[in-house]
Amino acid sequence: MNPALLEWRVLADADAVALAAARLIIQAAAESIEQRGRFRLVLAGGRTPEAAYRLLAHQAIDWTRWECYFGDERCLPVDHAERNSQMVERALLSQIPLAPGEVHPIAAERGAEEAAAAYARIIAAAVPFDLVLLGVGEDGHTASLFPGRPLDPEAWVIPVHDAPKPPPERVSLGLRGLQSSRHLLVLATGAGKREALRGWRAGAALPIAQVCRDQRVTLLLDEAANPGTGTAVS
Ligand code: 6PG
Repeated sequence: MNPALLEWRVLADADAVALAAARLIIQAAAESIEQRGRFRLVLAGGRTPEAAYRLLAHQAIDWTRWECYFGDERCLPVDHAERNSQMVERALLSQIPLAPGEVHPIAAERGAEEAAAAYARIIAAAVPFDLVLLGVGEDGHTASLFPGRPLDPEAWVIPVHDAPKPPPERVSLGLRGLQSSRHLLVLATGAGKREALRGWRAGAALPIAQVCRDQRVTLLLDEAANPGTGTAVS
């Protein structure tokens, strides 16, 4: 990782991380729309980004130029409460006037292999993305790329059959898919993420570190997740 490309911002708490994330997403959207007429955003699953999504949903934004994709999805029925698409729908998409054709969910209900092949075709027409949102697991995973599994640098979208974080069956953008973005925004809050961030900073080949290699990366973390020296921002 070129240190010049990684911005590490420590904020007071999870609410401050959510606010900073929403502001950064809005800024990225404005720049992308001004320069290219579109904003192609890859949404993260899990719990961390939900507060930022809820803040975004109440902004007076021109949503007509937004296209939303997903970094990963769990192989569950479409209406299952544990689907990442359900969380994003509740927190953001149900609140904003995005055209139906501008939201591109991963059809993980069709099974990991079939859904991964289908999604690779969808994102082939969308890359490079403007912003990819990522969470971090306590083991350093991101999206559904988990430690201890070789990561193919050329993989756009991969099926996952043995995820240690339930459910085991998932679909994830692969290294190349996640890296095909002008900017990566990583969100990490809570003491449970501290060791993963410590390992990332120390150079461990964690999935989050392998994804965030040669692009512009902004890591927003709260004090609870902070493993030590970092530039504190109010
Ligand atoms: C998922 C996410 C996963 C998540 C991390 C962090 O499907 O669970 O894609 O990668 O971002 O596990 O999860 P939290 O934000 O809930 O801590």
